[in-house]
Amino acid sequence: MRTAYTTQLGKTIIGDCAEVLQTFNDNSIDLIITSPPFPLEGRKKTYGNLEGQDYINWLTDIGKIAYPKLKDTGSFVIDLGAVYNKGLPTYSIYQYRVLIKFCDDLNYHLAQPFYWHNTSALPSPIEWVNKRKLRAKNSVNTIWWFSKFPDPKANIMNVLAPYSKRMEQFISHPDEFVKDERAIRPSGHVMSKRSWAKNNSGAIPSNLLQFSNSNSNGKYLRYCKACNISGHPARFPIDVPNFFINFLTQKGDLVVDIFAGSNTTGESAETLDRRWISIELSDEYAAASSFRFCKDEDQAQKSYLSILNGQSINF
Ligand SMILES: C[S@@+](CC[C@H](N)C(=O)[O-])C[C@H]1O[C@@H](n2cnc3c(N)ncnc32)[C@H](O)[C@@H]1O
Repeated sequence: MRTAYTTQLGKTIIGDCAEVLQTFNDNSIDLIITSPPFPLEGRKKTYGNLEGQDYINWLTDIGKIAYPKLKDTGSFVIDLGAVYNKGLPTYSIYQYRVLIKFCDDLNYHLAQPFYWHNTSALPSPIEWVNKRKLRAKNSVNTIWWFSKFPDPKANIMNVLAPYSKRMEQFISHPDEFVKDERAIRPSGHVMSKRSWAKNNSGAIPSNLLQFSNSNSNGKYLRYCKACNISGHPARFPIDVPNFFINFLTQKGDLVVDIFAGSNTTGESAETLDRRWISIELSDEYAAASSFRFCKDEDQAQKSYLSILNGQSINF
């Protein structure tokens, strides 16, 4: 295990998260937000991954190591993509097995299930969607928000969504919408102008997060191209960590990504003034993730090679 680079607020460590996590103090982490390799049955990613029960056991072991490291107010947010069973037009239910193991065996609480709709997902898998036209395209990941105790630190007012046009009209002209204050809506709600037309600067978001994953202009990809290497194949959009970091932590809190990949989480945390630690197994991915903190192509090339040569960079 070694430090690849440090920034003003964080650092990236190269190593196996199961080992690195053991070095953290108990009750020290406010938020773990991460996206592990998915158990791609019969379709190995470049970094390889386990399948079936081996995968569930591996992830459960890591969840067990993480639990005491979280503060009592802490959360563990994990993004898990949909996976088909090998050779069949049916889905694996591994995300639900992980959920049950974490809650039943490790004492995590499911604070809330979230679903990330990737609005730019391409039709896949090819066999069942594109060729045989038997299934709809996959565009939703489950994101389990686990907590150590039932009432983790959270403030939904930090992640309000923009109001719809209709809600903006309602707030500015409530009399046009509510004729009778005592009328009961079909949903059972009473539409009082005083409470419903209050401007909170945004709407309470739903647990269906809609973000596209098509950003191809960022510094990370630009410098990957300049260094003639491929970008990480399984990045999530920065909107995902931005949402949960704003929702579940405050400035100065410690955010950890245990499967950091291209370190989208580190960039998000640094921008949002949170301390952060990212852990990544692959030297190449960790070295390339430093591009997020480089000023120009020249610095990116030097930083990449230095990290691969075993040095640690300070930004
Ligand atoms: C789905 S990717 C994460 C992508 C990341 N969210 C991003 O936006 O770039 C999972 C990463 O976990 C890394 N990984 C796999 N096993 C690991 C382990 N035991 N410890 C740390 N990292 C690991 C892989 O190399 C891969 O880069």
